[in-house]
Amino acid sequence: MTGPRRGDVVVGSGVLDQVGELLADRRRVAVVSQPVVADAYAATVCSALDAVRVQHELVLMGDGEQAKSLATVEDLCRRFARGGLLRNDAVVALGGGVVGDTAGFAAAVYHRGVDVVQVPTTLLAQVDSAVGGKTGVNLPEGKNLVGSFHRPVAVVADTRTLTTLPEREYRSGLGEVVKYALMPAGTAVAALLDEKTDAVLGRDPSVLSSLVRACVDIKLAIVDADPEERTGVRATLNLGHTFAHALETAGGYDLYHGEAVAVGLVFAGALAEALERIPAVDAARYRALPASLRLPVTVPNGDVLDREALLALIRRDKKAKGGITFVLPGARGLETVDDPPLAALHHAFDAVGVGG
Ligand code: NAD
Ligand code: GLY
Repeated sequence: MTGPRRGDVVVGSGVLDQVGELLADRRRVAVVSQPVVADAYAATVCSALDAVRVQHELVLMGDGEQAKSLATVEDLCRRFARGGLLRNDAVVALGGGVVGDTAGFAAAVYHRGVDVVQVPTTLLAQVDSAVGGKTGVNLPEGKNLVGSFHRPVAVVADTRTLTTLPEREYRSGLGEVVKYALMPAGTAVAALLDEKTDAVLGRDPSVLSSLVRACVDIKLAIVDADPEERTGVRATLNLGHTFAHALETAGGYDLYHGEAVAVGLVFAGALAEALERIPAVDAARYRALPASLRLPVTVPNGDVLDREALLALIRRDKKAKGGITFVLPGARGLETVDDPPLAALHHAFDAVGVGG
């Protein structure tokens, strides 16, 4: 095992079986997963629970955003009930963000809340979604519209599981990692990306353990300071996300979330530069870092996109306060900036190759 242990967040290569030790005092556990993940990793988790004599059952759910639904939550809760899961038992969410968000929300509402252990198996889930307690599902009307804050009693992030991720899923997760590297507390993440680029791209589990740990520590500090996103501190985690969400909502651009975030980071850097919040050399870093990890830095076929239409989508972003709000770097660190002037926005659109 590599990687330190902080509280109940365990990060390392080969730490999957620590789920048993962490849940040794429980009577029964429902392990929620998806077939592809369960085929590779459920046996290790279930053996670890056997070793500490905890009853368990594997509960499979579907794949993709469609499965992140209230219908799945109902199905999971009904299966928990039929399996005899009680108030003091626990749920293990074994998978990426879709499993983590859905099983986490089911755990939040089943018996008015049972404990959940997040066992993230994608890079995005390890550095972001499994840590911080946001759970929820989609409605036909929009993503993540129903949910709750339900922090996991433990997180077990085994970086060895990342070796089986499809290449593009893995690379997309690096978009969120770059976000941390560009945050004021991101020096350690940035150093790893700069100095161990090949090991990161090659998914060396030991380097990934240091990288995931460093990202998790940043996220934990922010979430501890503002657990329910009320003071603006947690909102800084949305660096690069305003533009990314607009691209994702616009749809049809064949970008994974982390890829859209990478382009969103370039947009944020350019916007901050145009507003004279950061010097050009810093804005250049917002492009160079994602590029060094072979992430997109411009929108594919962005020249056919309409800038006004994207701005309208940004105005509708649920995190915006009515106008247009970006998280941007500046002399005082990351801050939300409302309604930047149009000329600055056009500079940022130019930087990511959108519109003419
Ligand atoms: P995902 O959960 O859909 O996983 C991607 C694919 O990889 C799936 O097909 C999955 O079955 C497969 N997979 C997972 N682990 C694997 C492994 N180790 N080996 C092989 N295949 C594996 O995608 P994701 O990117 O992890 O999560 C995206 C979701 O996370 C979105 O719904 C998003 O809204 C949510 N999210 C939540 C938060 C939060 O704070 N709660 C933050 C960011 C994103
Ligand atoms: N992913 C942003 C947050 O957890 O607040």
